Amino acid sequence: MEKAFVIAVDGPGGAGKGELTKRLAKEFGFTLLDSGAIYRVLAYAARQAGLAMFDEDSLVQEANVLSLSFKVEDDGVHVLLGKEDVTKAIRTEENGINASKVAAHPLVRTALLERQRAFRQEPGLVADGRDMGTVVFPDAQVKIFLDASPEVRATRRQKQLEAAGKEADYEQILKEITERDERDRNRPVAPLKPAEDALLLDSTNMSIEEVFETACQYIRTKM
Ligand code: DC
Repeated sequence: MEKAFVIAVDGPGGAGKGELTKRLAKEFGFTLLDSGAIYRVLAYAARQAGLAMFDEDSLVQEANVLSLSFKVEDDGVHVLLGKEDVTKAIRTEENGINASKVAAHPLVRTALLERQRAFRQEPGLVADGRDMGTVVFPDAQVKIFLDASPEVRATRRQKQLEAAGKEADYEQILKEITERDERDRNRPVAPLKPAEDALLLDSTNMSIEEVFETACQYIRTKM
């Protein structure tokens, strides 16, 4: 039997995956998996438990008992750790950096694999991450790799922070983005890279509407 349809969208942070995958899930009526949120919740829970981000064994144990769920509300998808709503708390820069460190451990990734695959159900799934098309759903019917220059990604992040009334230093953001990219691209297991059969989209000079239209056209050729 044919497996449920998966649209795998990978790429570095700030390339626009979040907005694109949200729109795609709505367009096709599919479930949305934000796999980065899983690594972020694990980093957050580990921090609360006083674990070090280099302690792979303890992180695996934490991953195995992680009580994580997603809840669709009027204002978007909420992320829960047990009963605690951590939607906002996991989005800090510091927790993003910790998530990237946690995600670099091979055994942590293995521990979270089946949890992610369980989201593949009818009528279909849009999966947002770094290794959706390469490792988690290697047989996804559609694979898209969305990239953008580090400078453009830093500018977008700066605007997001400013819009939220937070302080945003462009040089600092660019430095953090570059360091996180390095770690995500160079880790030995499931590094950030396009699947061989992925459509490469560079959003540096594209609006979100253009990215969305291009992606939709491509997806329809695969359905
Ligand atoms: O997409 P994000 O910024 O929420 O992801 C946070 C970190 O989690 C990112 O730096 C790398 C890691 N990650 C990963 O290794 N694999 C995924 N599929 C998704 C995220």
